[in-house]
Amino acid sequence: MKEKSLAEPKLIDQHGRQMNYLRIAVTDRCNLRCQYCMPSEGIDFLQRKDLLSYEEIIRLSRIFAQLGVNKIRLTGGEPFVRKDIMSLILQLNKIFKSIHITTNATLIHTYFDALKSVGRQRLNISIDSLDPVRFAMMTRRNDFERVWSNIIQAIDLGFAVKLNIVVMKGVNDSEILDFVDLIFRYPISVRFIESMPFNAHSSTEKYFMSADEIHRKIKLKYPELKHFVSDKNSASLHYDLPGAQGNIGIIPAYSRSLCAQCNRIRLTPKGELLTCLYAERGVDLKEKMRKGYQDEELKHLIIDAVSKKKKNGFEEEKMRKDNKGYFQSMTSIGG
Ligand code: 5AD
Ligand code: SF4
Repeated sequence: MKEKSLAEPKLIDQHGRQMNYLRIAVTDRCNLRCQYCMPSEGIDFLQRKDLLSYEEIIRLSRIFAQLGVNKIRLTGGEPFVRKDIMSLILQLNKIFKSIHITTNATLIHTYFDALKSVGRQRLNISIDSLDPVRFAMMTRRNDFERVWSNIIQAIDLGFAVKLNIVVMKGVNDSEILDFVDLIFRYPISVRFIESMPFNAHSSTEKYFMSADEIHRKIKLKYPELKHFVSDKNSASLHYDLPGAQGNIGIIPAYSRSLCAQCNRIRLTPKGELLTCLYAERGVDLKEKMRKGYQDEELKHLIIDAVSKKKKNGFEEEKMRKDNKGYFQSMTSIGG
């Protein structure tokens, strides 16, 4: 049975936006090494004791649900590398109607049955190339065949599948139209993401391709490309094409043109609440819990942090001391 929610929406920021979507990064570890996300080696992963425990994640999730959060996504790192992740998913499913998961799909074949048993789960799968050689170059691992077969299996099993493609100019932008072709063959969303400067080693500016450029490239082949609005809080611009089973998304993650409709907050693997992707740091909820704070005290901290959320990612970036986001990896933020 679902837990009864007496939720009253309370997470309103100073610009009148309501935060009802929580992204929980359950680990900073990953079994791939995507170029735009982390270096090939020398990464300081968190120790287990520094991660939020499942009990802590559940406790915080209940609190967030009481504060009006009604959508959650598990991210990472790669969520499925964390031990016993299904037990967390099962518990979260008592609090939230559905669990959204962002995964690299290398390990999900062992979880399909379990995931099915908790309802129609939604899988956002990262795949940056349909060419096994380029996939290996971009992820520094040889997992293309496994990932592709898991994607097909997930679609066949009826999971709601979205593919996430981080576009890097001169690397995989030549495949944009190949990815678009997939929506004529499968009922999926393919979503092109602008690369962000979070990879914990070096600037990737020279590979940047803007949402506008991506759009132009698709429009050139498909002049009938049509914009549509699905969810007013979406981080993505949506497009469809006549005759397609699926649709297209373009995510201006770096251009930050959709900040005005943001409804997202994040829990990092070490238990910080981030109110923006571009925030350097946030409230350390793990530390407060371990110091014995009561739920009501945590709620106040959360409400206060959310109320101060900046207007957009540019304002947030200005507050950074280092001014070099790329010293952080996406896995420490939660993608
Ligand atoms: N820029 C844009 N997207 C990124 N991701 C990871 N690092 C970056 C980055 N630097 C994406 C992954 C995945 C999600 C978790 O975040 O491709 O789709
Ligand atoms: Fe892993 Fe995702 Fe980072 Fe790639 S982008 S290394 S799949 S966490």
